Amino acid sequence: MTTASIRLGDDAPNFTAQTTQGPVDFYQWKAGKWAILFSHPKDFTPVCTTELGRVAGLKPEFEKRNCKVMGLSVDPLDSHKRWEQDIADVTGNAVNFPMIADADHKVSDLYGMIHPNANDTQTVRSVFVVGPDNKVKLTLTYPASTGRNFEEILRVIDSLQLTSSYSVSTPADWKPGEEVIIANTISDEDAKKRFPKGFVAKKPYLRVTPQPNL
Ligand code: BEZ
Repeated sequence: MTTASIRLGDDAPNFTAQTTQGPVDFYQWKAGKWAILFSHPKDFTPVCTTELGRVAGLKPEFEKRNCKVMGLSVDPLDSHKRWEQDIADVTGNAVNFPMIADADHKVSDLYGMIHPNANDTQTVRSVFVVGPDNKVKLTLTYPASTGRNFEEILRVIDSLQLTSSYSVSTPADWKPGEEVIIANTISDEDAKKRFPKGFVAKKPYLRVTPQPNL
């Protein structure tokens, strides 16, 4: 039974692993950048094929956000390597990030990526966004039957990066460029100085301002 439970704000556990791009030490590989570690259930499966091609196609978007990406499944390295050709054939995108071959479940157990009541041998679709400080900033868990929305993951990274630099949060369905919410720890007087574009108080506890870094 897997007991790992990784929560927001925890240190992302470091590990060493064999990947399609050679052996990695996770902390050394991410080297102070943002990182996404995501698992998929199984090689040569349809949803996973579309997901990995999509992530490969989004590489410029991850790079713009100073973010590296690493995939994982419990299949062996030779299987990952053979599957990469199919992913390129189907999606038009060559896989351009390392995929961990976690046949011994070392990393998937460390991160709680196997949910035995869903499937006791395959990883679920987990996502961990890890900050430059190696702390976990986001966790997501999807079932095998549902491919993830990687635009949403980019959107969350945009929010995480913005809210780590300014005293703001982002509202429901926020997209980059839209107004943001001023933290309630900031007084109106201070908000006038920090947010020179001004703000609107919809309620005393809900003050919105244009995105401050634009
Ligand atoms: C898929 O990627 O399509 C898939 C993987 C494992 C179980 C079910 C579907």
